[in-house]
Amino acid sequence: MPNDAFGHPQPTSRNPSVCSDVAGEAAVATRGFATRAIRSGQDPCSATGSTIVPVYQTATFTQTSVGVTKGYDYSRSGNPTRAALECQLADLEEARHACAFASGMAAVNGALSTLVTGDHIVATKDVYGGTYRLLSDVLPRYGIHTTYVDMCDLDETRAAIRENTKLFFVETPTNPLLRIIDIAAIASLKRPGQIVAVDNTFATPYLQRPLALGADIVAHSTTKYINGHSDVIGGIVVVDDPELHAQIAFYQNAVGAVPGAWDAYLTIRGAKTLALRMREHERNARAVAEFLEARDDVEAVYYPGLASHPHRELARKQMRGFGGVVTFRARGGGERALEIARSLRVFNLATSLGGVESLVCSPTVMTHGTVPPARKAELGITDDLLRLSVGIEDVADIIADLERALTGSAHASRTFAVA
Ligand SMILES: Cc1ncc(COP(=O)(O)O)c(C=O)c1O
Repeated sequence: MPNDAFGHPQPTSRNPSVCSDVAGEAAVATRGFATRAIRSGQDPCSATGSTIVPVYQTATFTQTSVGVTKGYDYSRSGNPTRAALECQLADLEEARHACAFASGMAAVNGALSTLVTGDHIVATKDVYGGTYRLLSDVLPRYGIHTTYVDMCDLDETRAAIRENTKLFFVETPTNPLLRIIDIAAIASLKRPGQIVAVDNTFATPYLQRPLALGADIVAHSTTKYINGHSDVIGGIVVVDDPELHAQIAFYQNAVGAVPGAWDAYLTIRGAKTLALRMREHERNARAVAEFLEARDDVEAVYYPGLASHPHRELARKQMRGFGGVVTFRARGGGERALEIARSLRVFNLATSLGGVESLVCSPTVMTHGTVPPARKAELGITDDLLRLSVGIEDVADIIADLERALTGSAHASRTFAVA
C-alpha cells in the first residue's frame, strides 16, 4: 500500500482489508448510486473473508521490522475502517479522494485548511451558525477574512471578489430558509488559483453533486443524512484534485481531528442506505410542506419543492430532489412557535437533522444561537421560525402530530387565534 508525500497511507484495491480504489478499476459512476453506497470501499477481507469492513479498534499497527508496515502505522495517520469510509464517500461524490474528520465543523475547517494568512473568502451570508463562527471568530486570528454576500445575487458576489480572494464558500440549500444557490454560476466566477467549496450536508450526494457543477471541494457533516441515525458526529471532505487532496490529507494528519474506527464503521453502515432514506425523507417532506402550506394558521412555508418557492426551477436543475428539511413560520409569533415545538410528539425537540427520526428546532435559539441578533434579523431568522427535519416515520403520523400541535397551540399567542 503506497504512502503519499506526507506518509499518509493511500487505500488501494490491492490492500486486503480496505476498499476499492475509486481512481482505479472500480470505474467511478459506472455503477448506480445505491450500488456504490453499498459496494464502494467494501471489498471482503482477503485474510478472513469478512464481508463487512471490520472495526479496526487499534491505535497502532505492529511493524514486521523497523519502518516496514502493512500500509498502516498509526490510526491518526490512517486506519483501514476510516479508509473504507473515505472510499465509499469519495465514490458517492464521484471523486477520487476523501478525508474523514471527527465532525462536520472539523471537515469545514479541513476544507478551509487550503488557505493561508492573507487569503480572503467570499461566503454565502446564511451559512450554518457554526461555520459563521469559524469564519468570523476563528479564522481572522490567522489573518483570513471573509466577506458575506447573498450568493443568489451573482453581481453582489462578483463585486465582493478581491485581489486576494482564494475561496468561495457555498452552502445550498441554505439553513434554515432553504434558498438555492447556483453552484455552476458561482464556479463560473472563479479565476485561476481560486477554489469553490460547497457544504453539501443538506442535499447529500444523492441529490446534488457539486464537483460536477464546477466546485473543487465538497464538505459534509456526516452527522446528518450520510450517517442518518443521529448516533455519530462526523465529517468528510471530498475532492477530485490530487493536489488539493494532498493538502487536506496533510492537515488531517497534522491536526488530528479524525474519527475513531467505531464512528467510521457506523457511518459506513448508515451511508449504505442513503438512497433509500433520501427518497423517503423527500416523500414525507413534500407531504409536510403541502400540508403546512394549505393551513391558514401558517404564514410561510420554505421548501424548494413547492411551486411557491422562488428558486424551485434552479433546484430542479441542479438537484435531483428537494430534500427532507421544511421550515415554516406559524402565525402568532415566537410564543406560538415555541408552544408548537414543545408539544410535538413524533418530532423530538432537538438540534440536528438528517436522522431517520423527525426533529424540530427553533433556528434562532438553537442552530443559529451564536449568530448576532441583528444579523439573524437581517437574514429573516426570527423567533417565529421552526425548522423540521422530516424523518421517515409513517407520514400519516407525522402530519397528525403537526396538526395536533398547530391546532392545540392557538391559545399560545395573544395576537393570533385559530378560528
Ligand atoms: C450545513 C451544516 N454544515 C456543518 C455542520 C456542522 O456539523 P457537525 O455538527 O457535525 O460539526 C452542520 C451542523 O448542523 C450543518 O448543518
